[in-house]
Amino acid sequence: MRKIFLMIVVGVLLLTACGGSSTTSAENATLAPVPADYAGLTNPLGAEAASAGAEVFRTNCEMCHGPQGHGDGPAGQSLDPRPRNLASIQAASGDDFLFWRIREGKPGTSMVAWKGILSDEQIWQTVSFIRTLK
Ligand code: HEC
Repeated sequence: MRKIFLMIVVGVLLLTACGGSSTTSAENATLAPVPADYAGLTNPLGAEAASAGAEVFRTNCEMCHGPQGHGDGPAGQSLDPRPRNLASIQAASGDDFLFWRIREGKPGTSMVAWKGILSDEQIWQTVSFIRTLK
């Protein structure tokens, strides 16, 4: 009887720990500072690059980040951490942050570095597209 009680307590603790951290890290986590090599870069392409960026996004990013970048792509659901909402990240970050993160990836997560897979031009196109996300 006491064993069962203990298991329930541990189970509830685990559930609250996981549930709590996933909601806070998803929306409230502060963004990492941009390294010196990237800090201050601005998108050399205009808003008209967004349609080319949409293509790149659909092929390479949508399965995890979802069609509107809301972090709800089918391949992202079982990841830990799950992909974050790019609409809110873009509203809170500069071009340099987005370009750096996409190019170099995010260590410790499933967000790989896209340099070598995508050209810098394609990454900037994707940044133009991410700017359209709401
Ligand atoms: C395999 C799934 C997957 C794919 C594919 C993927 N991402 Fe991610 N992405 C993630 C995960 C997981 C994170 C990290 C979420 C976190 O840190 O909480 C992330 C984070 C990000 C971030 C924010 C990083 C931060 O500091 O919070 C950006 C921007 C981003 N991805 C853009 C892209 C773009 C653009 C593509 C396509 C070129 C892409 N991702 C492809 C899973 C993916």
